[in-house]
Amino acid sequence: DKYDFGLIGLGVMGRNFILNVADNGFTSFGNDLDEEKVNALKKEGGDLAKVNATSDVKTFVAGLSTPRKIMMLVPAGKIVDAVIEGVLPYLDEGDILIDGGNSFFTDTDRREAYLREKGIHFFGAGVSGGAKGARLGPSIMPGGSKEGYAPVQPIFEAVAAKYEGEPCVAYLGPKSAGNYVKMVHNGIEYGLMQLTSEIYDVLKKGGDFNNDELHATFAQWNAGRLQSFLVEITSEIFEKEDDLGEGRLVDQILDKAKQKGTGKWTSQNAMDLGIPVPSIDIAVSMREISALKDERIHADALYDRPTVETMDKAQLEKMAEEALYFSFIVTYAQGLHQLADASREYGYDLDIATIAKIWRAGCIIRAGLLADITQAFKADTELPNLLLSPTFVKKIQSTVAAARELVAYAAKNGIPVPGLSNSLTYFDAYTTTRLPLNLIQAQRDYFGSHTYERLDREGIFHTEWEV
Ligand code: 6PG
Repeated sequence: DKYDFGLIGLGVMGRNFILNVADNGFTSFGNDLDEEKVNALKKEGGDLAKVNATSDVKTFVAGLSTPRKIMMLVPAGKIVDAVIEGVLPYLDEGDILIDGGNSFFTDTDRREAYLREKGIHFFGAGVSGGAKGARLGPSIMPGGSKEGYAPVQPIFEAVAAKYEGEPCVAYLGPKSAGNYVKMVHNGIEYGLMQLTSEIYDVLKKGGDFNNDELHATFAQWNAGRLQSFLVEITSEIFEKEDDLGEGRLVDQILDKAKQKGTGKWTSQNAMDLGIPVPSIDIAVSMREISALKDERIHADALYDRPTVETMDKAQLEKMAEEALYFSFIVTYAQGLHQLADASREYGYDLDIATIAKIWRAGCIIRAGLLADITQAFKADTELPNLLLSPTFVKKIQSTVAAARELVAYAAKNGIPVPGLSNSLTYFDAYTTTRLPLNLIQAQRDYFGSHTYERLDREGIFHTEWEV
């Protein structure tokens, strides 16, 4: 009569997750300080023997079978520490505490070490898929104590999204591996969203696509190689009527994008690692530029902009599809490159194929492409970058010309496509044997005696440059 699984934080994600657990045959007990949320869950759950809730932490912990399996779904930051301190006095050695939020990975490392000393197994488990995913099947990215994962595994495998019957969850690695992978997932998410919005802009300004046409175009793309959750919801967004006014809702939405930090963290940490992820960096910068609405309005009035030369709809649509496919691949490539490097740096021992595999369903960046990405990393587990995979060489080679055309067209017509152009530039730089950075080395040595290496012989050189 004790409950199998406990969940602290009965907001939308928490409530949906616990109902999902209960649906899958594990009795569940929820906890939240807010009495209203407790009552809402009890009502929605129906059968109190299957899913119950309490606002009292002591009652909550006492009601769970041991080892206790408790997941927190609360906002990242100090709240997580407060929740841990609140529950800790009632826990026994061997109990398992899981942080399902978007916690910063070094916070997870700190908490894991702190709780390990007290005999508590601690996990960071990224959960992706939004409210609907939590309810019907998210992608779950657990990392941390492997021993602690074993008792939780059957529950997570039951509630996770399934891809051809395989659950979209896997133990990813020690310490903060789970939160780190989820952070980079979100970085990729930022990149793909930015690219999609640029393509929308180009179709609208360059091809006069109306919302019905945009809906049809994205729906058609979603039936092809661009099949993905983000392309699918984009197509649906263009159809939504505005309840408060005339026309479509999308046209009335203020063009200032908010952010909670995971994309920025991905970029910041990529910089720390020395791994280039420009398609993600620019997505963060664009949210920042979007927030400067007043300045943008002011600046718009100061400068002339070229009149857009519209293109043939069919031609533009074809070019846009290829350019979007190209830049989606480049964005995944960058995020996965970062994961491979972080794995070495932080000792996560990540298997990139497994990560791509559990992203195939449930999460926000799920896409048909992820099946191919999984295969590419299965075929070569040491693959440093997706762009080096033979199957991806073909995909990229057949679409890069369209990406060039689209970026050139947008630049000429004053339509900002920084995500597309950063993806293209990254590709061009990454695939160039000789870059002009020899000049930078010469400059560094000129003004600061920073030394340089040579192509034709070994050693470290310095030159007195001034003539
Ligand atoms: C997910 C999402 C989820 C959240 C984003 C939103 O995988 O389900 O990524 O975690 O909705 O973090 O992030 P921003 O508010 O920063 O856009």
